[in-house]
Amino acid sequence: MEKREELYSGKAKSVYKTDDPDLYVLQFRDDTSAFDGLRVEQLEDKGKVNNIFNAFIMEKLDQAGIKSHFVGRLSDTESLVKKLDMIPVECVVRNLAAGSICKRFGIKEGMEINPPTFEFFLKNDELHDPMINDYHIASFGWADPAHIEKMKEITFRVNGVLKELFLKAGMLLVDYKLEFGIYKGEILLGDEFSPDGCRIWDKETRKKMDKDRFRQELGSVIETYKEVGERLGISFS
Ligand code: TMP
Ligand code: ASP
Repeated sequence: MEKREELYSGKAKSVYKTDDPDLYVLQFRDDTSAFDGLRVEQLEDKGKVNNIFNAFIMEKLDQAGIKSHFVGRLSDTESLVKKLDMIPVECVVRNLAAGSICKRFGIKEGMEINPPTFEFFLKNDELHDPMINDYHIASFGWADPAHIEKMKEITFRVNGVLKELFLKAGMLLVDYKLEFGIYKGEILLGDEFSPDGCRIWDKETRKKMDKDRFRQELGSVIETYKEVGERLGISFS
């Protein structure tokens, strides 16, 4: 496999073509953004930590029968992935209240959400990722009804696997965001799963261990991402 020209550069990752038209190289950069790209900083080692973290989670999900675009890790900061036609929506599951749901509904941070709730957002920074529903997705052609149902089903299945994984390591999976795409007609999990796109709290102290450390300027961002990984058994050296 040969890495070719850059195809696209997002806020935290870049995508490169390869000599295989079905495969891309995903490069995890140190760029860290919040508030829809309003604040961007470079955090040393973030690309490496998130790439290794993501590979570990994608492998765990694969073992649980949840298919993703992930093929394998190529280097500290690069992974090989299947080329997906991305669906421009973000799928969020929440187990505990934090972030935008607290503001929208006047809910206190930390309240248990039972049963866990699901939200769709349109992936559009300029519009600040507005919340959308199934009807919007179908009416505007962002995905067809069968794929909408699949995204919900898979996102909840991920909760079943990961909530347990984090809990066993003394952490609470508060919420997370997933993105999906189509590969040869099949819906696959895309993008990444790392502390950049979820909320994780220590089970006892409720210390924030995710990108809220960056958003809220709590410090020790990457050290804490590493701590999450190490508790799960990941080695970053
Ligand atoms: P929210 O509370 O801001 O709606 O975010 C819910 C979860 O989704 C949280 O874990 C952060 C994640 N998320 C992203 O990773 N990227 C995004 O653009 C948004 C809006 C949320
Ligand atoms: N991922 C989005 C951004 O970078 C939103 C966020 O994480 O706050 O700007």
